[in-house]
Amino acid sequence: MEKRVVTFGTFDVFHVGHLRILEGASRLGSSLAVGVSSDLLNMSKKGRTPVYSQEERMAIVAALRCVDSVFVEESLEQKREYLIQHKADVLVMGDDWAGRFDEFSDICKVVYLPRTPSISTTTIIEKIRL
Ligand code: CTP
Repeated sequence: MEKRVVTFGTFDVFHVGHLRILEGASRLGSSLAVGVSSDLLNMSKKGRTPVYSQEERMAIVAALRCVDSVFVEESLEQKREYLIQHKADVLVMGDDWAGRFDEFSDICKVVYLPRTPSISTTTIIEKIRL
């Protein structure tokens, strides 16, 4: 049976931590759809405009072998609608979000995968700034 996996993120300044979680997510099912935060959502969530625009971030994520489709995540409050829309069997999030999405376990399995240590978009930006 087809098993659809959905995950979400900003994926700005794409790095190996992003790659690992997407590869891990894709292994949990037969297809992977990725919700990429809009530039506006990112501004409200992280207080900065992404380095790469949402179109660029979506193009990079969509080009990965482990990703089947991408969509824009416009608002955090619409998670449930996105999961229903994309017929999610599994929701994958990094374990920095552990427990925060358990409310969706009535409609899909919720899995938190370990983050790759010592790398993030924020630390990369800081390193380049120095
Ligand atoms: N992620 C991961 N390992 C990392 C960094 C991110 O597994 N080292 C995962 C996050 O848990 C999330 C997805 O990648 O599920 C997208 O994360 P995102 O917030 O876009 O990346 P960060 O590098 O955490 O960005 P920032 O530093 O701006 O918070």
